[in-house]
Amino acid sequence: MLPFSFSFFAQRRERFIKQLKGLAAIIPATSLVTHHSDVKYSFRQSSNFWYLTGFDEPGAVLLLLPYREGSRFVLFVEPKDPIAEVWHGFRWGCQGALEHFGADFAHPIAELQQRLKDYLKNAEGVAFQLGCHLDIEPLVLKAWKEQQDRLLVTGNTKSGIISPCPILHEMRMHKDNGELDRMRKAAWISAEAHEIARAFTQPGMTEHQIQAVIEQHFLMSGTQGPAYGTIVASGDNACVLHYTKNSALLRKGDLLLIDAGCSLNDYYNSDITRTFPIGGHFSSEQRIIYELVLGAQRQAIASIKPGKVAAEVHNIAIRVLVEGLIELGLLMGSVDGLIDQGAYRHLYMHRTSHWLGLDVHDVGSYQLGIQSVKLEPGYTLTVEPGIYISDRLQVPKGQPAIEERWKGIGIRIEDDIAVTFSGHEVLTSTALKDPLAMEC
Ligand code: GLY
Ligand code: MN
Ligand code: MN
Repeated sequence: MLPFSFSFFAQRRERFIKQLKGLAAIIPATSLVTHHSDVKYSFRQSSNFWYLTGFDEPGAVLLLLPYREGSRFVLFVEPKDPIAEVWHGFRWGCQGALEHFGADFAHPIAELQQRLKDYLKNAEGVAFQLGCHLDIEPLVLKAWKEQQDRLLVTGNTKSGIISPCPILHEMRMHKDNGELDRMRKAAWISAEAHEIARAFTQPGMTEHQIQAVIEQHFLMSGTQGPAYGTIVASGDNACVLHYTKNSALLRKGDLLLIDAGCSLNDYYNSDITRTFPIGGHFSSEQRIIYELVLGAQRQAIASIKPGKVAAEVHNIAIRVLVEGLIELGLLMGSVDGLIDQGAYRHLYMHRTSHWLGLDVHDVGSYQLGIQSVKLEPGYTLTVEPGIYISDRLQVPKGQPAIEERWKGIGIRIEDDIAVTFSGHEVLTSTALKDPLAMEC
């Protein structure tokens, strides 16, 4: 797969700039974050910054200035520094920002304060996300105050600071072919990891050992590694939705829930969950719940096509789950009544879908006012229903007590879906999920 070309990022900037009208956009890169002492966490670029530049270093700020014809793209970057580069690695520096990333002007980041007010001259407003970049925010406010004073003199009172996110997030929701290829690749590698992990799993191993096999595959396949904290949750641990301790021993007869996906070097992600019996076959209760979740997931996925109201994907999954749980005696009441009151939430407490892309829980609205967003070609989302019957489950008043035979069953099945012009594409179809395939 070819790297994204610079004209590709330039086209994105053009589309963004058009929507900015007379506003200056100020988009900072991610700063390094302390892990402990003088040790930093691995660097992970801000998705918005990367989306517009492809520039993968900390300590940078992007300015997009629609009102400066011919010099609208400005990067402030960490300058070249032979000693710092010995310790922390290569930097592009200002010359690299100009030549390799196509900036019209590039300056050392230390000059942001002194130069910002000049760059904001003629701005009718600023697109900057307040409250998120506290190191830079005072500089932005000061420079903007000076420009605002100038505007007030000319009688312009409409100026202000807005968030760039609504425009950028709307753009990021629509994945183009290059992005979809990357998401297919991330999905493919992640699906392979799930297949390898299931074949490797034996009673007596630890959850960490399964995590190691998965993450080894991610790294050996040339990705950055996991897109999020890999969840390897056996038995009752599967009922902890964000379980990442991964330290328990695998017991024969328990289920193993693995929620794992990789992140490519240019950040596109996958997010897959599979659940299977450890060292053998499903018990009859495990199999019943597995098939119920799988049925809900299949029906929800089948409904995905352009024009479909996104919330409907969740509603379909809920209805299948609630009908099944009533039949099994695990819920009591009418289907509509239970759904209206949310009286199933002790067994299924999360949403069925989220957008997926440069962020695992990707940006983009789910609602526009009171209307749920409608699906469009190029949107990518997960479908991940589950049922979680923890040993520690507190059954709400009015609902049936749960028999012991159901306890300790936590099942989620998660795939990544792209909306196409005619329907949908399951990006993760190479991760098996048929119950027979899960028993090895
Ligand atoms: N792995 C996080 C999620 O499924 O949303
Ligand atoms: Mn997910
Ligand atoms: Mn997941």
